[in-house]
Amino acid sequence: MERKLRTVIIGGSSGMGLAAAQKLYSLGHEIVIASRSKDKLEKAAKMIGKAESHILDVTKEKEMIQFFNSVGPFDHLVTSAANFVMGPFLKMPLDEAKQFFDSKFWGQYLAAKHGAPHIRKGGSITFFCGVAGQKPFMHFSTGSAINAAIEGLTRALALELSPLRVNAISPGTVVTPVWDVVPEQARLTEFEETAKKLPAKRVGQPEDIAQAAVYLIQCGYATGSIVYVDGGGRII
Ligand SMILES: NC(=O)c1ccc[n+]([C@@H]2O[C@H](COP(=O)([O-])OP(=O)(O)OC[C@H]3O[C@@H](n4cnc5c(N)ncnc54)[C@H](OP(=O)(O)O)[C@@H]3O)[C@@H](O)[C@H]2O)c1
Repeated sequence: MERKLRTVIIGGSSGMGLAAAQKLYSLGHEIVIASRSKDKLEKAAKMIGKAESHILDVTKEKEMIQFFNSVGPFDHLVTSAANFVMGPFLKMPLDEAKQFFDSKFWGQYLAAKHGAPHIRKGGSITFFCGVAGQKPFMHFSTGSAINAAIEGLTRALALELSPLRVNAISPGTVVTPVWDVVPEQARLTEFEETAKKLPAKRVGQPEDIAQAAVYLIQCGYATGSIVYVDGGGRII
């Protein structure tokens, strides 16, 4: 009997990581999800169908090493975990900007560093960056810098970790729990206004991004690629 592909999704307890986990599970992958909240992980595992779950804070290198040691060999790594902060550049405290880097940039960096040695032949890493890396918007300078840095890291690691494939997904506005910090009415208005401006005439859904994750995992010729799934957001 053919062995199931084992896929690790750090950030798989919510949003796009969860949608990718659900899609990959439906395609027959064995799923491992990791994030900080036990509660979120339990709910997500039920939504996926079946998933091994691990509590992990990506900002802690020791936890990352222990996590991959306990997961053992696997085939594909997807890293969607991140927190974010927004605010005027001149007013943002350096510590807040650094915390954003710690979760989104250094978190993915550490996942690749300690995950790659456990990835089987034929495997891949899929990072997450974001449209702001190509097209900045107001009060998100740290996010722009992180997303651009992830694009650079993707190309560099595609070269250095070859034949392991390394790619990234760059989402535009996607309806996920990350937006829950915005009051509901303001959030819906923001989505409507954004949809009007986008060439795709709608905002993204987590399933749009799950499709990109499946493509990058399955296409053995894709490496060093940034897949923009932003409704055309970076060309307006
Ligand atoms: N949604 C958008 O419009 C949008 C646009 C552009 C780019 N992106 C990027 O796309 C990626 C996925 O975003 P999303 O919207 O799907 O986010 P989300 O729904 O908020 O999910 C984020 C996930 O990351 C986990 N996480 C956060 N900090 C962590 C940490 N320190 N250690 C371990 N896990 C952590 C969260 O779980 P716990 O709370 O349990 O840790 C959660 O599972 C992120 O990189 C985000 O910046 C999103």
